[in-house]
Amino acid sequence: MNALGELVELRAMRPGDADALWRWNHDPDVMRFMVAGYPQTPETVAKFLTERPRNAYGDVLFGVESRKDGKLIGLIGLQGAEPETGIAELNIYLGEKDYWGQGYATDAMRTACRYGFDRMRLHRIWLTVVAGNDPARHVYQKIGFVEEGRLRQASRRDGEWTDAYLMGLLAGELR
Ligand SMILES: CC(C)(COP(=O)(O)OP(=O)(O)OC[C@H]1O[C@@H](n2cnc3c(N)ncnc32)[C@H](O)[C@@H]1OP(=O)(O)O)[C@@H](O)C(=O)NCCC(=O)NCCS
Repeated sequence: MNALGELVELRAMRPGDADALWRWNHDPDVMRFMVAGYPQTPETVAKFLTERPRNAYGDVLFGVESRKDGKLIGLIGLQGAEPETGIAELNIYLGEKDYWGQGYATDAMRTACRYGFDRMRLHRIWLTVVAGNDPARHVYQKIGFVEEGRLRQASRRDGEWTDAYLMGLLAGELR
């Protein structure tokens, strides 16, 4: 079932989302604080979306849609959960830059975390964020994520090693 926030709806990714996903993955502004990976063709991205296994407990990937106009603006995922631990890693990126700074990531994060805690009965959600990605860090802290550690030289950007923060949110801590 889709997850509804105030500003966004989280829904399954579709093969038709490939062009947007390809465009975001090749936008240096979007990928600035992410692992860019190797260049892909739009066809490879479409193949990934078509052949990807269905969403399941250990691998949930949502497209983030703006409720205002129904446009797909990014992705958010909860990965690696196991029933024995109830711990998942969260990843988010919004590829449509025109939608930045309007509360979409905050709402998408809250909606995905609520989904994780309420529907998946997770106990802990964690993520890493590269030092310097201040807007992302701000959003995570705003909704209750706590900084739990600093990973030294965990990311390489523009030829420089950069630290990253490990952040975690426990059930009951979501704001
Ligand atoms: C980072 C990202 C998720 C933020 O999305 P967004 O929709 O613009 O976020 P929101 O509008 O919900 O919130 C942004 C917050 O950051 C704040 N902010 C903006 N620039 C900031 C800065 N330089 N330092 C600190 N806070 C900043 C805003 O004021 C806002 O907080 P507020 O609502 O309390 O005022 C989005 O830009 C993105 O996906 N970027 C590319 C990929 C990426 O970096 N993903 C995260 C990897 S960990």
